[in-house]
Amino acid sequence: MTGAASNNFELLERIPLYVPGKPIQEVKREYGLDHIIKLASNENPWGPTPAVKAKIIDAVNGTDDEGVGLYPVSDGFYLRKAISECRRIKLEQIVLGNGSAEIIEMAAKACFIAGGSAVIPRHSFAIGGISVQTAGGRIIETHATATEVDVEAILKAIEPDTKMVYIANANNPTGVQIGRDGIAMLVKEIRDDILLVVDQAYAEYSEPGDFPDAANYLGERENLLVLHTFSKIYALASLRIGYGLGNERMITLMERVRSPFNTNHIAQVAAEVAIRDKEFVAFCREKNRQARDAFFVEAAKHRCTVSSNAGNFVLLETAIPAPDLFQYLLKKSVIVRPMHGYGLPMHMRITLGRPEEMEAFWAAAAPILV
Ligand SMILES: Cc1ncc(COP(=O)(O)O)c(C=O)c1O
Repeated sequence: MTGAASNNFELLERIPLYVPGKPIQEVKREYGLDHIIKLASNENPWGPTPAVKAKIIDAVNGTDDEGVGLYPVSDGFYLRKAISECRRIKLEQIVLGNGSAEIIEMAAKACFIAGGSAVIPRHSFAIGGISVQTAGGRIIETHATATEVDVEAILKAIEPDTKMVYIANANNPTGVQIGRDGIAMLVKEIRDDILLVVDQAYAEYSEPGDFPDAANYLGERENLLVLHTFSKIYALASLRIGYGLGNERMITLMERVRSPFNTNHIAQVAAEVAIRDKEFVAFCREKNRQARDAFFVEAAKHRCTVSSNAGNFVLLETAIPAPDLFQYLLKKSVIVRPMHGYGLPMHMRITLGRPEEMEAFWAAAAPILV
């Protein structure tokens, strides 16, 4: 190994490792348990729909001109066409990613080709910061709490070498959503040469009229990238598929950093069916609202403080360190997510599951919460 390479590897070792939710299979194996409730990765417990599953099976069986033995359509033309129709946006304004997380990485690759900094609020979704650093950028972290993002602090923190501002709206794990005024302020006041990335992974969980959609500003700001995923309300997390919306120039730049064939055929066709199913989205949104309301009621009974008003998860303040509560719950067959890695050692993120899953959570957690 050369000295230069080892220095790079040491830098790499200083970048935090993304820690995903513990998979069900792992908990079964480690604890010798049979039935596990997973409320750890903000997946959607209600899907995918039978129509999406049928499409996946068709895709596996394949035809002469498409199938798993062939490379997929590299730019995902047909899925982009479906997104274009559903979102009423030009095909040329859409890029696909192997999950929206890959588009964050693509944006970072594009921004930090010659170094620079990214402004990111504290407690933001971890992939933002990791992508910036692995692409060679530096992070400027701004003030935020478990319940609030300080938009003015973002604007004030921008430096001459800043190339990107990343916000998740709503943010994971805090569930904090910047409102219309805040988004307007960011779009208008961030220097034109800086790429503003607005990650809207949970947007579909908000009532459509209520959500401060940054895509409304695509006509006003060239350096804007708005991200969506099929992993959340569309219930396709395992297929790894997401999309970015931007202006044509921004999308052509993303094409330069996109790996060829980055999204697979099965994911493309499944997402094409999923995005057209507005009824399923509305159904999941309503189920999620009911689960959130019920969670707040139950949390009040247990005198627990809970925050997060957006997305498909809640943030619970814990009386004991969250990693201890996490370990305790694992032994009771419930997987949740302690948030110490996000600078929130006394907070636990809990995905809103089906009613019976939430009942199992409260039954397991109650003895240690009181
Ligand atoms: C805010 C946010 N953005 C992006 C993602 C990643 O989604 P994907 O599965 O599309 O990579 C997540 C996943 O939890 C998220 O919470």
